[in-house]
Amino acid sequence: MSPSVIRLARYTQTELDEITGGAVDPFEVAATGLKSLAKEVHFGVREQGRLVAHAGLVEVTVSVGGELIRVMGLGGVIVAPDLRGHGLARLVVTAAVEHARGTGAEFGLLFCWPDRMPLYRKLGWRALDGSMQVEQPDGPVGTPLRPMWIPLVEGSVWPPGPARLLSLPM
Ligand SMILES: CC(C)(COP(=O)(O)OP(=O)(O)OC[C@H]1O[C@@H](n2cnc3c(N)ncnc32)[C@H](O)[C@@H]1OP(=O)(O)O)[C@@H](O)C(=O)NCCC(=O)NCCS
Repeated sequence: MSPSVIRLARYTQTELDEITGGAVDPFEVAATGLKSLAKEVHFGVREQGRLVAHAGLVEVTVSVGGELIRVMGLGGVIVAPDLRGHGLARLVVTAAVEHARGTGAEFGLLFCWPDRMPLYRKLGWRALDGSMQVEQPDGPVGTPLRPMWIPLVEGSVWPPGPARLLSLPM
């Protein structure tokens, strides 16, 4: 029987440590120096009581070609190191996207390292052409992380033009 995804009432450093075993910099983003936005809605998988996977969502706004669009940001996608390669990321990301489809937002958006893009491509996400500036405490900056989007409404296509996230990245 495949494990089921649950909505988590709480997701803090404690829950992240439960998944990673307390790994330092589990997303390998410390070197970027980027501050990130906490997620608001959390999905997880428990195996024998232990939290082993997570994906989070938070609503954010992007300025694209001068227009503001509301998108659901996906982040904090992580699977326990000993359980990777068994489809758990697919499960939690799919649950998060299904939830996002019910929010009225037109697109999902995430940032990831290029070597993790194949995972998301398999789940229907597409690379955004070009980069996207993101907000940081001292103002907007570029990021080496690549933006990817997914339509939450059938037929929606990410609009052309320079894009800027008007918040910290997810
Ligand atoms: C990236 C991560 C979440 C993947 O979790 P996972 O449970 O191993 O992924 P899944 O087993 O659900 O993979 C789903 C599919 O994506 C593929 N995939 C997963 N990670 C991949 C990677 N790094 N590169 C290429 N393909 C990958 C799998 O082969 C699988 O393909 P299939 O369905 O055709 O067999 C996990 O390695 C992790 O927690 N890494 C550290 C944190 C991190 O980098 N999070 C992502 C931040 S953007």
